[in-house]
Amino acid sequence: MSDTTYMEELGRLVVVGQGYVGLPLSMRAVAVGWRVVGVDVDEGRAKRLAAGESYVDDVTDDDLCTALGTGRYQPVAEYGPAAGFDVAVVTVPTPLAEGAPDLSYIAEAGRSLARLVRPGATVVLESTTYPGTTEELFAPLLEAGSGLLAGRDFRLGYSPERIDPGNRTWNLANTPKVVSGVDEASLAAVRAFFDTIVTQTVAVSSTRTAELTKLLENTFRHVNIALVNELAMVAGQLGVDVWEAIEAASTKPYGFMRFTPGPGVGGHCLPIDPSYLSWRVRRSLGRNFRFVELANDVNDHMPDHVVARVTEVLNRRRRPVLGSRILLLGLAYKKNSGDTRESPAIRVASLLADLGADVRAADPHVERAQVPAAVRPVALDEAELAAADLVVVLVDHDQFPRDLVARHARAVLDTRRWLPVTPRIPAQRFAPVAERLGPASWERAGSPLVESL
Ligand SMILES: NC(=O)c1ccc[n+]([C@@H]2O[C@H](COP(=O)([O-])OP(=O)(O)OC[C@H]3O[C@@H](n4cnc5c(N)ncnc54)[C@H](O)[C@@H]3O)[C@@H](O)[C@H]2O)c1
Repeated sequence: MSDTTYMEELGRLVVVGQGYVGLPLSMRAVAVGWRVVGVDVDEGRAKRLAAGESYVDDVTDDDLCTALGTGRYQPVAEYGPAAGFDVAVVTVPTPLAEGAPDLSYIAEAGRSLARLVRPGATVVLESTTYPGTTEELFAPLLEAGSGLLAGRDFRLGYSPERIDPGNRTWNLANTPKVVSGVDEASLAAVRAFFDTIVTQTVAVSSTRTAELTKLLENTFRHVNIALVNELAMVAGQLGVDVWEAIEAASTKPYGFMRFTPGPGVGGHCLPIDPSYLSWRVRRSLGRNFRFVELANDVNDHMPDHVVARVTEVLNRRRRPVLGSRILLLGLAYKKNSGDTRESPAIRVASLLADLGADVRAADPHVERAQVPAAVRPVALDEAELAAADLVVVLVDHDQFPRDLVARHARAVLDTRRWLPVTPRIPAQRFAPVAERLGPASWERAGSPLVESL
């Protein structure tokens, strides 16, 4: 099928926001035949995209250049070129401001789009938000600015994004997508659009249900991660290896889902989305959503626990944190990603720097500008490993060389169970380390080489 046929069939799409969600959506839409205007009010971003430079991990420069090469992808910093769109998808940020949902980006995008909405067009909100946003906030803005009525004159719906940056199995195209509309015709239009983008759409009966579905998914993860994190903090003291217990529990074929401990939660979703839910429940119903508050409490304090463990491990080696050289592996909030938003690793780095440690960090995915000023970015090599009093594994990027770390690090605190804990490492593997350290080595004090969270 030629591009022209595609264009006639699939029409004109505007994707508002060209970030982690909007850019991959734009790329996919171009690939299946849409003519796409990607609007991002950040001029720098729009320029980088036009120059073929991607800043989103899951989109390579090659992907971007291919899209630009079709002539059907136009990244811009203003809304003008989006006029006459058939479908608009809004993927702007929904952060927290002093603990409360900040819907100003959605409101701004709504006001800007409203001027361009024509009868018969379809508008979809995709930003994560609390139940009621599409109908109570977004629809009135679109209606006021366009003079048209949602449902009657144009189609309006909500479809949450499930993209998992760095996940090589589940991507935008093969992950089922929940779709909804403010009425039957809107649902049909939203579904028809996403049927061109993903292999499976899942219709729900209202935009509120779709909004809640996303918050349920992320709250479920948040709560379960908090559960294993809290377990990790106490299991060691009970003489139990929490990781072994989790692996054993994971063999149960039903009724259990594997979650693993770590230094805390980060990114744009887990530290934020559940609070949208608890805020809405408190504001609308006057009650606390206790699971979210408890999970926030546990997960928010994981970086403090990591620092407490660093202090313990160094203490056993007769070293204060002050002046110790600590090498952090990973600053991103998750594996194989360069995203440092709300990253617990950054928090750990700052806390250790505040205590006077000489903090260095190796993360091949993270741009230098994202590294806190008090932390020295370094390459992960033999010399850095050998010179560190303690290596702390915060992110288990595939790129990190396990063997190199196991051979040259003097002491490791592993928050991800990336390395086997010492008793399970064959003795000969660490023999050279023990030799180098001589009689004053930590083994003499009965400490393992690799300690867990
Ligand atoms: N990142 C993820 O993994 C992920 C996954 C699922 C859902 N989400 C949700 O998707 C939404 C977007 O997240 P993201 O990670 O893509 O954010 P992002 O910050 O990476 O991208 C958002 C982009 O929108 C632009 N923008 C802001 N206001 C605008 C406006 N009025 N008009 C045009 N552009 C505007 C910003 O400049 C930015 O480039 C959020 O609600 C988030 O919770 C994110």
